[in-house]
Amino acid sequence: MQVIADAACCVASWAADGRQPYHGRLMHVLVTGGAGYIGSITVERLLAAGHAVTVLDTLVTGHRGAVPDGAELVIGSVGDQDSVGRLLRDRRVDAVLHCAARSLVGQSVAEPALYYQENVVGGVALLNAMRETGVGRLVFSSTAAVYGTPLSTPIDEDAPLRPINPYGATKLAFEEAMRWYGAACGIRSVSLRYFNAAGASAERGEEHDPETHLIPNLLKACLGGPPLTIFGTDYPTPDGTAVRDYIHVLDLADAHIAALELTASSDSGLRICNLGSGSGYSVLEVLRAAESVVGRPVPHALGDRRAGDPPVLVASNERAGTLLGWQPRRGTPQEMIGSAWDLMQRRAAARGAG
Ligand code: UFG
Repeated sequence: MQVIADAACCVASWAADGRQPYHGRLMHVLVTGGAGYIGSITVERLLAAGHAVTVLDTLVTGHRGAVPDGAELVIGSVGDQDSVGRLLRDRRVDAVLHCAARSLVGQSVAEPALYYQENVVGGVALLNAMRETGVGRLVFSSTAAVYGTPLSTPIDEDAPLRPINPYGATKLAFEEAMRWYGAACGIRSVSLRYFNAAGASAERGEEHDPETHLIPNLLKACLGGPPLTIFGTDYPTPDGTAVRDYIHVLDLADAHIAALELTASSDSGLRICNLGSGSGYSVLEVLRAAESVVGRPVPHALGDRRAGDPPVLVASNERAGTLLGWQPRRGTPQEMIGSAWDLMQRRAAARGAG
């Protein structure tokens, strides 16, 4: 493992640099995958709340530049149990936020070994390192893909778990491992099942390669990239396009902090929570919202369904309200698309100027 930069101690400097006082107990959090989209934005929020953060990331899909100043970056894999154990001990980590994962549905179907190796085998190595070092608090980035094609919506956490691809299957397998480690050695954990993360903070957003997600693809089409292909127009939905529950990434980040706080309580074992807005928007509705943000038509073409896409995925977020005291606050597609568009334009302008 390679340590890139030692963070200034955020806990100690928090009062001095004028950030808002934080009313809970300050933590040192190890964020695996903290150079990725959701991980890096959650690190931003953790630091702003005064917590200390160490990021562990292979940088295979994450970006060094996405790790906020003030967090320490360690380049390495969660699967390296001995090194992770040393990191947990040396940094006196209080809690782990485990975002590191392979997360492309299509790739998971073509290369299941990669998904079982990194999402399951790597995850179990992390659990072993936590058990050995006595770190007993864990929050996990899970996914709506554990439900597969739901029988009804909104989907609550007790809906049948029938993943239809290795991505969902491996996330579910790790949830099960968390459950059994919780029972055997008292790890207190929360699994957050995300629906469709969207939007950006002022400085960080989605940067996948290849990019497969709807909102970045349609915004790229507006900036002169390939026209968006709408995958499927014959779904059993009002306009024939697939319906998803989009959730602002800053709302997701806030939910992670609430979940980390929840693991401070004495109850051991696994708690599970959907993170969605509770509202669904079709692909065409998202496209129209983007047109209203951008102020011009989004170049697009109609295409066939994409393999593995369920027609409708909308969360019940009742449990997130009761368990985490969390409500999404940035709920309209315009807010999410607007934040992603602002960042994309600023980056395009910076590239043009550079
Ligand atoms: N879509 C298009 N054109 C594109 C990209 C996407 O029409 O270029 C459509 C998709 O077919 C889907 C919707 O836009 O109907 C949203 O697609 P995304 O790729 O943005 O997101 P997904 O719904 O496929 O992915 C989400 C989560 C995954 C989870 C999956 C479960 O990001 O973690 O739902 O199906 F696995």
